[in-house]
Amino acid sequence: MSSKKRGGFSSRLGFVLATAGSAVGLGNIWRFPYLAAKYGGGTFLLTYLILAVTFGFTLTLTEICIGRRSGTSVFGAFRHFNKKYSFIGFLASLVPFIIYPYYCVIGGWVTKYLAVSVQGNIKSAANDSFFGSFISQVNEPLIWLAIFTLIVTVVVACGVEGGIERVSTFLMPVLVVLLVGISLYCITRKGAIDGVIYYLKPDLSQIKPMTFLAALGQLFYSMSLAMGIMITFGSYMPKDADLEQSVTQVELFDTGIAFLSGLMIVPAVFIYSGGDKNMLASGASLMFVMLPKVFNSMAMGHIIGAVFFVLVFFAALTSAISLLETLVSLVIDKFHISRIKACIIFFVIAMAMAVPSSLGYGIWASIKPLGFAFLDFFDFVSNSILMPIVAFLTCIFAAYILKPKEIIDEVESSGKFRRKGLYIIVIKYIAPICIVAILVFSVLQGLKIITV
Ligand code: PFF
Repeated sequence: MSSKKRGGFSSRLGFVLATAGSAVGLGNIWRFPYLAAKYGGGTFLLTYLILAVTFGFTLTLTEICIGRRSGTSVFGAFRHFNKKYSFIGFLASLVPFIIYPYYCVIGGWVTKYLAVSVQGNIKSAANDSFFGSFISQVNEPLIWLAIFTLIVTVVVACGVEGGIERVSTFLMPVLVVLLVGISLYCITRKGAIDGVIYYLKPDLSQIKPMTFLAALGQLFYSMSLAMGIMITFGSYMPKDADLEQSVTQVELFDTGIAFLSGLMIVPAVFIYSGGDKNMLASGASLMFVMLPKVFNSMAMGHIIGAVFFVLVFFAALTSAISLLETLVSLVIDKFHISRIKACIIFFVIAMAMAVPSSLGYGIWASIKPLGFAFLDFFDFVSNSILMPIVAFLTCIFAAYILKPKEIIDEVESSGKFRRKGLYIIVIKYIAPICIVAILVFSVLQGLKIITV
């Protein structure tokens, strides 16, 4: 990102594609389906969609406006308006710092599946015990983690992420076509209909606080909110681009990819495991267990599977690159060290922080901070604690320090603001109140004071 000059996107479409390209990653393809499976299918989907058009829209618009108006990345952005609030920028930059290492662990798993499928071994990956025995080993997941992290580091160190981004802009439409094709294949299998109903039909009696917490955390994660990323993208946005329209398009794209991924993976649980409750609740492993079974049952599945994992790999790579690029540009700006040095430092830090996440599913499985496996612990701290705090502070900052008028002026300087009324109500009242409620709940839940 930092390689682009300020205002670097030449067109509105360029901005929308690049922002959507960075937002689409493992969050959409790996994380969304397992949360949807775990938290009641249609119930989760409906909650997510409602949050996306209210919170998601409001926060994305706010962050992009703050970025475009201040013309700087997250540290400078809050300081630009009011020095006292630069700590929000600091807190926001902690989020990528926590996410990046465990993102690389999952990136390593994807790289392993890419290698397996390209070698034509999808059949062995379709075996029930394949994933479990892979992640519980010591060396193999660490080696794949190191390979993935090294690729990300080299790309960022050489400053060639622009080239990778161009490749992924080209691959993104292919991903959409494949997702549509594979989900159509899945939903027309025997036994899939129960899965489709489970995924699409909300059961309002099943909505629990945890459904909201999981959906909100997922929204932040998937849209790269509350971590300074959208602020940085906003600072590159052309001054004359229509903000409301751009935000809507980025959100539609991101949510569309997540929806299709769920439509591919959730019914697969019903096809291959009869909707087994344990499988639905299995969490981080779901995509890796289910998709090889789908590909194994398809004609030409080994080729489709290989192409699919290439695309997931690129989606993971571009997202990991924007995470590392954010961290690297922050330390370059702050400590005036070279790009290569910053990359080496983050390679070492990320590997050190990722090791517990990787071993937490194997030999360190008995060590459970707050009762979570390490990877889930980092995921919980960033998504359920830190991001809601940053999101709350951002809302308060925009609504009561900056005032909505400043945001509205920025939007109206380059287009119409149709949902102005909704925006004001959400940013001033609904978002801060709901985020605090959710945050209190998640702290109590994390501390096991309440359980759901
Ligand atoms: N939004 C990405 C995803 O859904 O996978 C995660 C992410 C990417 C977060 C890039 C932060 C970022 F800078």
